[in-house]
Amino acid sequence: MGENTAEGLRGIRAGNTSICTVGAEGHGLHYRGYAIEDLAENSCFEEVAYLLMKGELPTQNQLDGWCEQLQTHRRLPGLVEDILRRLPADAHPMDVLRTGVSAMGIAEPEPGLEGGFETAVRLLGALPSMLGTWYWGSRGKDVPSGDGIEGFAAYVMLMVKDDTPSDLECRLMDASLILYAEHEFNASTFTSRVCASTLADFYACIVGAIGTLSGALHGGANEKAMALIQQFKDPEDAARGVREMLAQRKLIMGFGHGVYRVRDPRNAIIKGWAKKVSEDRNDLRLFEISEAVEQVMWDEKRLFANLDFYSATAYHMAGIDTPLFTPIFVLSRTSGWAAHVIEQRADNKLIRPLANYIGPEQRTYLSIEDR
Ligand SMILES: CC(C)(COP(=O)(O)OP(=O)(O)OC[C@H]1O[C@@H](n2cnc3c(N)ncnc32)[C@H](O)[C@@H]1OP(=O)(O)O)[C@@H](O)C(=O)NCCC(=O)NCCS
Repeated sequence: MGENTAEGLRGIRAGNTSICTVGAEGHGLHYRGYAIEDLAENSCFEEVAYLLMKGELPTQNQLDGWCEQLQTHRRLPGLVEDILRRLPADAHPMDVLRTGVSAMGIAEPEPGLEGGFETAVRLLGALPSMLGTWYWGSRGKDVPSGDGIEGFAAYVMLMVKDDTPSDLECRLMDASLILYAEHEFNASTFTSRVCASTLADFYACIVGAIGTLSGALHGGANEKAMALIQQFKDPEDAARGVREMLAQRKLIMGFGHGVYRVRDPRNAIIKGWAKKVSEDRNDLRLFEISEAVEQVMWDEKRLFANLDFYSATAYHMAGIDTPLFTPIFVLSRTSGWAAHVIEQRADNKLIRPLANYIGPEQRTYLSIEDR
């Protein structure tokens, strides 16, 4: 590494934000000053999205109006619906959402770059329908109407789950959407800000962010965590298997973090939900396997579970297919991305760092016959 460079930009403060703090005292998470524990316990996703995007918690009237807007925006433009219906059933749903958002940018272009709030609300409302249109439509089934379903989380569950979701499953979804909503300058959010800083439109920022989130080191970790725990038959098998993987220096998905050093505060909350949903199903096998993995990772590496680890168990036990895990993360994180795009635009400076050059010294150009 050369002078003034940091691998992966670790430890570099790349800008100002008033949206979120991550890792204060090694483990804290606050959205606009509110602790994640308070929000997950007392709030709902719509309220948190409003807080992130507007800066303050809504009054009851404001919340009612906001929820109504989100419900109205479930409707998709014809062009977007047509495109989504043509996508194959074996497409990855992250690619489906990336395509749907891109198509929205053509069907309903952003009117101007002032703020972006209206476009953000429009997209946030439409995203669950995009996922549902593909999920149900690609299997030749009718998309459930959602009439009479008011809450965002309940509507998401309707879009991603084959049988009728229980009240407990909807509450799990609501909590997980709150936990996933925002996380400061993580890779996908930073992507959205870089994109916004060039004065690209809102949809471009979100398309870029979805692409970044899809990777296994970021949002894709919840799907990989599921694949990991599903391969073990019981907690003993899991403990043995994970020790072997660590001996082979393999990465265990759903553990560790680029910023938190002590623990991920979201873990205790989602773990509680994973347990509740498993108990409700009277099936604690996967939960106990997950706990065994968590214990070995702590004993052997002092690495803690991040949000993605128990999200996998919780979503699986709520009857959600694994490929839909990261797309659900998108439905939530769009609120955080939107808040950052709006913040970037309000005080914009093109994000353009320098590179530390490590290539060859100056060379003389050789004509092609002489090489
Ligand atoms: C998130 C992540 C990319 C952070 O990486 P990072 O900032 O480089 O992590 P650290 O610097 O704390 O890593 C310290 C050591 O622990 C190891 N480590 C970190 N996470 C690990 C994991 N999940 N499994 C096994 N070893 C891990 C690193 O390889 C490193 O070992 P080394 O010093 O021998 O090279 C990394 O922990 C990871 O890949 N986790 C799995 C993917 C995941 O869950 N992503 C979702 C994040 S919310």
